[in-house]
Amino acid sequence: MHWTHKDLLDVCDLSTGDVERIFETADSFMEINRRPVKKVPTLKGRSVVLFFAEPSTRTKTSFDVAAKRLSADSFSLAKSGSSLSKGESLKDTAWTLQAMNPDAIVLRDSRSGAARFIAERLDCSVINAGDGWHAHPTQALLDAFTLRRAWGGEFSGRTVTILGDIAHSRVARSNVNLLTRLGAEVRVCGPRTLLPPRLDTWPVTVCHDLESGVDGADAVMCLRLQLERQQDGLLPSLREYARTWGLSRRTLRKAKGGAKVLHPGPINRGVEIASDLADDADSLILDQVASGVAVRMALLFLFLTRKD
Ligand code: NCD
Repeated sequence: MHWTHKDLLDVCDLSTGDVERIFETADSFMEINRRPVKKVPTLKGRSVVLFFAEPSTRTKTSFDVAAKRLSADSFSLAKSGSSLSKGESLKDTAWTLQAMNPDAIVLRDSRSGAARFIAERLDCSVINAGDGWHAHPTQALLDAFTLRRAWGGEFSGRTVTILGDIAHSRVARSNVNLLTRLGAEVRVCGPRTLLPPRLDTWPVTVCHDLESGVDGADAVMCLRLQLERQQDGLLPSLREYARTWGLSRRTLRKAKGGAKVLHPGPINRGVEIASDLADDADSLILDQVASGVAVRMALLFLFLTRKD
């Protein structure tokens, strides 16, 4: 069956059947990642541009690793080393890249809608690796894939709490959409100044204190304070925030026994999550990274072979 999507802009573009196909493909790539020789020729001769105009460790590296493990060629471009820093527009940069005929461009940009903007103008696939506050579909896919493996496939009857800076988080937005469609109940929890307006239109329960947010949860996803996207004056101080909203072994006690802890990274230890909890047995933070490679291999495979 052919993969019909040209681009991946957000998870709402995917049906649950598409998501299941991504997960099944990623399952098969998890096995390759455990082999001594972690390379297959599947995408030999295909090329991917990694165009990251915002900082990234996990997303960029895992797309790069994913491309290389499938034998595709990957080329990296960052804002500081590109002509964007000389005033070239995103459109001109994107057209320039397209003229080199890559099969896909993976884009991260601080502007919401940047990925859609170039996807509408280019023939190659565009994969959104995070656009401003708006969406981070590959992160949501890898988070759900990680939970699916931890829970043996079932989301219904599970409660996931997303904790922290919901207002400025593209990870929260994409995860709410995907996790609820997969059947989980989602709560969002954080200080009122870090909750977005019109939350009543989101399919979530809103909790205004940590204890009720965590109570009975099967998983808690901590988010970093998106200080680069926040205006001043939203918080009294980092120390106060950590004391009231930081997840620790003690505050997690209210959750279900064996509740999983997630974090998309980068972690600020001692702020949104206690350092010892981040390293606990029930922490899935490094599993998320490992899953991220397999999920991005699956995405590159599906998008780059869609015309075959
Ligand atoms: C997230 C992002 O960039 O949105 N990180 C990631 O992709 N792993 C979350 C964050 O930066 O806090």
